[in-house]
Amino acid sequence: MEIIIQSDADATSITAARMVARLVKEKPHAVLGLATGSTPLKLYQELVRLHQQEGLDFSGITTFNLDEYIGLPRDHEQSYYSFMWENLFSQINIQPQNVFIPDGMAADVPEACAEYEQAILNAGGIDLQVLGIGSDGHVGFNEPTSSFASRTRIKTLTRQTLKDNARFFEGDETQVPHHCITMGIGTIMDAGCILMLAFGEKKAQAIASMVEGPVASVVPASILQHHARAKVFIDEAAATHLKRADYYRWVYEGKPNWQLDA
Ligand code: F6R
Repeated sequence: MEIIIQSDADATSITAARMVARLVKEKPHAVLGLATGSTPLKLYQELVRLHQQEGLDFSGITTFNLDEYIGLPRDHEQSYYSFMWENLFSQINIQPQNVFIPDGMAADVPEACAEYEQAILNAGGIDLQVLGIGSDGHVGFNEPTSSFASRTRIKTLTRQTLKDNARFFEGDETQVPHHCITMGIGTIMDAGCILMLAFGEKKAQAIASMVEGPVASVVPASILQHHARAKVFIDEAAATHLKRADYYRWVYEGKPNWQLDA
């Protein structure tokens, strides 16, 4: 696991965006796994800027989103479908048929989940997966005690996640759907590389448990310790509980230029 600590969320996101952009340039038919929530917003803004000002070309790129709330139609303003189109897809030249987001209104959820897994395989697998982390250590919506072998399926959100996400639903936790479809931890671990972002003091404990704690399903993100190419981009506030922060800074400062965005 590589830990990249930068001064603030904007600087961190711009550094992370360079890594995504490098892949998009080097592999024009790459497959990206994408996250929603507040964390990746600046990363997506930077990708939009790179497309609009520097011609970064997404026409051959395929994307798979991590998750979606069950019971929210796609046109609901808090569906992850709406989020992605508003914050990224409508502003870049991605082909709509290359965009995959779990269908929260699927009549047959297990069938829709199996089809989603198949679609990822058909696309050749995910090259780079963008992740946020929940304050309870979830990745995607794989809540604590999720199986490390899990695939795309239905999950029930924890009360902590309902509380955390109430800010998107007028502060009313009762409006947050309790169920979701999420890629499994096994699905996420199959990605060629992982790019996790986390900002702010609220994420500091989850980050410390993920990076320096034992690998355990009570901290689902801790499984990333077993991923061969996991990069964790965090700001100073999210780094406050890391015991070895100085070592991670020293490693990053000493990296040769050619390795920086790889
Ligand atoms: C979103 C997702 C979640 C979020 C996490 C953090 O697609 O899969 O794991 O990344 O809940 O959310 P924010 O970024 O809003 O703090």
